[in-house]
Amino acid sequence: MKYPIYLDYNATTPCHPAVVEEMLPFFSEHFGNPSSGQHPFGWVAEEAVEVAREQVAGLIGAAPKEIIFTSGATEAINLALRGAVAGLKSKGNHLITLETEHKAVLDTMQVLEKQGFEVTYLPVQTDGAVSLNLLKKTIKAETILVAAMLANNETGYLHPVKEMAAIARERGILFFTDAVQAVGKIPVDVKALGIDMLALSGHKMYGPKGVGALYLRKSKPGIGLDSQITGGGQETGRRSGTLNVPGIVGLGKAAEIARQEFPTDALKLAELRDKLEKELLSIEGAHLNGSSDSRLPHVCNISFRGVSGKPFLIRINKHLAVSSGSACSSITDKPSHVLRAMGLDSETAVATLRLSLGKSTTEKDVDVAIDFITETHQKMKKGNPSGI
Ligand SMILES: Cc1ncc(COP(=O)(O)O)c(C=O)c1O
Repeated sequence: MKYPIYLDYNATTPCHPAVVEEMLPFFSEHFGNPSSGQHPFGWVAEEAVEVAREQVAGLIGAAPKEIIFTSGATEAINLALRGAVAGLKSKGNHLITLETEHKAVLDTMQVLEKQGFEVTYLPVQTDGAVSLNLLKKTIKAETILVAAMLANNETGYLHPVKEMAAIARERGILFFTDAVQAVGKIPVDVKALGIDMLALSGHKMYGPKGVGALYLRKSKPGIGLDSQITGGGQETGRRSGTLNVPGIVGLGKAAEIARQEFPTDALKLAELRDKLEKELLSIEGAHLNGSSDSRLPHVCNISFRGVSGKPFLIRINKHLAVSSGSACSSITDKPSHVLRAMGLDSETAVATLRLSLGKSTTEKDVDVAIDFITETHQKMKKGNPSGI
């Protein structure tokens, strides 16, 4: 057995070998700048970027011209939120989002608050769900945008974005979704969901890091989007800067592979996840965070009462690469804001494992994880906190 076993696929995924293979020639042989329209070096690069645009669009039911390449989802989120509200100031200044969004959304909202926008952070129930009635009641004449994630990165909870988007659309309000954890894992169709803008990321779907995309609906009425990075006018002026051709080619290939493979992956991973979850929930004091009815197939989030969180996680990390929340919150070492919003106290929020499975996860990995977590918990139950 090779340790540690990786069960943190929501933090990042390895590049699929076919993705790496597809990218390699674009570092050296096909190194052209896609904006160099005068010679074949540029044409080859440009063509590769356009193929990738089609592949990414194809995965989410969009048209290629609706895809803007960025340096990742964080940038796509910034572009969507800052870029869209800038042009809507005369219409209103009220924005709505969820308390359990990723920091890329929450911190951007805080910046917008400083610029004079009013932001309502909708609370969630203990299962991670947000009330659609509350959303309706929160909308006012000044509301210009609703931002709600598709799948939560910590619990895997799937929000009813189709219903939320319909509520927004009926009232002429823009709807943005952070779909980073959902795209390439479950079916996501922007037209069927009725959303206006969506952010996705390469490294969460077996593509490279540092590349992502924003879907921007093109059908009428059009969406005004102020560029946030100005310069050479790439991406139809919406995102300047020489395109990351190898990264974009990799993202495109990852999208193509995901489209073919996610239905089978999802079935396999749901089976493994269910086994892992069932066994871990039989540990005394363990409980599941987030509804089990509406969530991603490969994630579970379990708190363990009766052990001190930090030492427990340190022990677990000896053999298992797992986290207690998002990779970003592990930088700050704070209890997860998602779990706190779902009503967990800080102590329990810290004594939590987010287990996310991926393509390479085997049944043996799951068996070893079950045994190791169960034994570690047994040894570290309160009264024996050092676990010796
Ligand atoms: C839900 C969610 N949104 C946004 C991001 C940021 O994506 P990126 O790493 O591509 O900037 C992440 C990554 O952790 C995420 O999980």
